[in-house]
Amino acid sequence: MTDKATLVVGDQRYDLPIVQGTEGERGIDIRKLRDQSGLITLDPGYGNTGSCRSAITYIDGERGILRYRGIPIEQFEQHPNFVEVAWLLIFGNLPSREEYARFSAELTGNANIDESMKHNFQGFPRAAPPMAILSAMINALSCFHPELHELEGPDQLEAAAANLISKVRTIAAFAYRRSHGLAYMYPDPKLPYAANFLHMMFSQPYNEYLCDDRVRDALNLVLILHADHEQNCSTSTVRMVGSSKANLFASCAAGVCALWGPLHGGANVKVLDMLETIHQGRMTPEEYVRLAKDKGSKVRLMGFGHRVYKSVDPRAVVLQRTAERLLAFLGTDDPLLNIARRLEEIALSDSYFVERKLYPNVDFYSGIILRAIGIPTNMFTVIFAIGRLPGWIAHWREQNESPDGKIARPRQIYTGNRETAYKPRDQRG
Ligand code: SDX
Repeated sequence: MTDKATLVVGDQRYDLPIVQGTEGERGIDIRKLRDQSGLITLDPGYGNTGSCRSAITYIDGERGILRYRGIPIEQFEQHPNFVEVAWLLIFGNLPSREEYARFSAELTGNANIDESMKHNFQGFPRAAPPMAILSAMINALSCFHPELHELEGPDQLEAAAANLISKVRTIAAFAYRRSHGLAYMYPDPKLPYAANFLHMMFSQPYNEYLCDDRVRDALNLVLILHADHEQNCSTSTVRMVGSSKANLFASCAAGVCALWGPLHGGANVKVLDMLETIHQGRMTPEEYVRLAKDKGSKVRLMGFGHRVYKSVDPRAVVLQRTAERLLAFLGTDDPLLNIARRLEEIALSDSYFVERKLYPNVDFYSGIILRAIGIPTNMFTVIFAIGRLPGWIAHWREQNESPDGKIARPRQIYTGNRETAYKPRDQRG
């Protein structure tokens, strides 16, 4: 197989090396293209452009494969432990018993936020979007940990990761409590990661929320399945910001902002809005699908389609099973799940979706699970962010330690005015 590509421009020929990944995927290395030819490439949305080499996550969009450090995500369904997966993504291997015990203790010990940070929540309107609060509070957190701005070596990275991964739950839960006028529930050091989050969300001073194991496992799985997804929009944002040597907190706060968008992490909220619209009888599933196919409507079948997956998103398959299992355990017959199933059935037999290879993605069923657990819709993208945080940290680390690591600075094709002169205001129209 050839190890170079030859670009022919007029009477010029340029040889460009071809790089190959672990699974045989190949790319043209254009790092010397502009020096050799004066040319750049143009690829809005970077659908054809690799930004880096990475060993964290592998996706095969055609075959619906997703692996974290080589482990297929389906294998976590029987081992739903988000803390283990966070360690796997950041440090490259499943934690040893000693590493797991140490990291769990660090998460437990770092669950509280500085008491003075609590006042920050009062500075937001009660109805403030939780993603705005989350991004602001992650940046505020960095002000309380100047010792974690410059990370020297794996110990400091482990401390920063434990701080962020643990405290992001507390920030999210406190934002929820504040928006509902509820007393803050402090983290309980006896509870594991996901159960502690639900305790801070739903316990009352007079009434402890007791997390059933099936609910705990379902939430662990939701967090695991959101934990990383190679160079998606928010992770690329974290890499972009981190490439300027901005600290880990600032980089992850930027990732929260990118994830907020309805085309990205915000889609899980839009899926529920879509299902509710149909449930409240304002539209039938058939009518909604018809609208989603009409370009003029600007409506999309939310939770469907993906830039990389051109077959089923393997996360959606696991999340659908998890939703069915959880609802059966809770004895909940959620009409929205039936509507979601109906939409999927209609779309998968419709040539519009089949021809464009549009299948359910991670957001299509995740909201059904979160709703069954009692998490309000406006917190769904926050849960996505809690899940995605270890992935962001892993990529920030990988980039910072990479010999290829340099400040991100894309080029452009200029289409503005040719050189023109300044005209004093009294000579303008
Ligand atoms: C996430 O990158 C990641 O990995 C993201 C993510 C992660 O884990 O980080 O997986 C999480 O963001 C999942 C995606 C969540 N977003 C949604 O569910 C919103 C609905 N989906 C779409 O907006 C869309 O599918 C995207 C944004 C997800 C992907 O968009 P692309 O790859 O840029 O595709 P496109 O917009 O160029 O669409 C190609 C065609 C177009 O039709 P034509 O112009 O060819 O006729 O497919 C159509 C689109 O109109 N299309 C849809 C559609 N998605 C694409 N039509 C109706 N409904 C949809 N959902």
